Amino acid sequence: MADVPLNDLSRQSQSLEGELRAALGSVLTSGWYVLGPQHDAFEQEFAAATGAAHCIGVGNGTDALELALLSVGCRPGDEVVTAANASMYTATAALKAGLTPRFADVDPATLLLTAATVEPVLTPRTRAVVVTHLYGRLADVGPLRDLCRAAGVALVEDCAQAAGARDGDRPAGSLADVAAFSFFPTKNLGALGDGGAVVTDDPDRAQLVRSLRQYGWSSKYTVSLPNGRNSRLDEIQAAALRIKLPHLDAWNARRREIVGRYAEALGDGVRRMVHGADVDSTAYVGHLAVMVTETREADRAALTEAGIRTDVHYPVPDHRQPVLAAANAAVSLPVTERAAEQVLTLPCFAEMTDDEIGRVCDVLRKL
Ligand SMILES: Cc1ncc(COP(=O)(O)O)c(C=O)c1O
Repeated sequence: MADVPLNDLSRQSQSLEGELRAALGSVLTSGWYVLGPQHDAFEQEFAAATGAAHCIGVGNGTDALELALLSVGCRPGDEVVTAANASMYTATAALKAGLTPRFADVDPATLLLTAATVEPVLTPRTRAVVVTHLYGRLADVGPLRDLCRAAGVALVEDCAQAAGARDGDRPAGSLADVAAFSFFPTKNLGALGDGGAVVTDDPDRAQLVRSLRQYGWSSKYTVSLPNGRNSRLDEIQAAALRIKLPHLDAWNARRREIVGRYAEALGDGVRRMVHGADVDSTAYVGHLAVMVTETREADRAALTEAGIRTDVHYPVPDHRQPVLAAANAAVSLPVTERAAEQVLTLPCFAEMTDDEIGRVCDVLRKL
């Protein structure tokens, strides 16, 4: 019997193969490969989907984060507060922009930042807070917005794992000053290579990102801004994303269903799905099916033995990463550090078969 994979991107490509081939074929014959009609149409469609006035397609989610930080006025030496349990993407973007990442602990139930965990970490040098909607669960953004407004600090959403999530009728990407998305192939909305986007309601911020993603040009061949770079969403990726976007809600619903099945299989024992209580809410889109367990290595071995692939998202908190460890030696984040030892990711992708989900549940019931 074949293993149950953590993810299998080829299944989604197969399910859309005819449409994808036609769209890619039309890009091929158009002769227009960068910043063309597919890109323009995707920017409009994704802005509409996220409820934002502006979408700017960029090369990947890490660039999207960096450009979002620059767009809210971050300058070298400023501090950016974020969580330490989301694998360094925000910290990498901050370091690249000459900013200092500072880390707040997360809520033990949701593993997300809250206003209460962020507040003690703010200093007069804090210019922005980046809230990551980890594993596809929207953070409680309202109180964070209030906190940031009172402190005169910008709030950035990292929506890389939460495309399509909604807080009531407000989509991920419309909850803060500016938002960053990744379209890395494993994301809920994934391209066929790297891709990302910045979305915002603010026209000046949007214009700044538009300029920075293309060399810092104010007009063709006229560089008016420092910090420019080449980071654009290409036509092939935009065309593929346009095919996939209309399916996002259905895929997200299937992901929630899968996580719900796992939560049910675990029951009320000592192990739990981190967002098992959120599977009836569109504020959760099941990007990763993560459980917490005090016996991770044994559980992982039992799953592996049964042919179930697993992973750990993420094993090393940002403040303990080699590149940041010395500067953060005195930082203690007990919830984050404990979670790094207890989280275990189970297979979850919209094209999983019922049989595969059942095989995972059978093992979970016996743990
Ligand atoms: C939470 C989060 N933020 C940012 C990123 C960075 O995106 P990318 O890999 O497209 O640079 C990712 C994924 O890779 C992510 O999961």
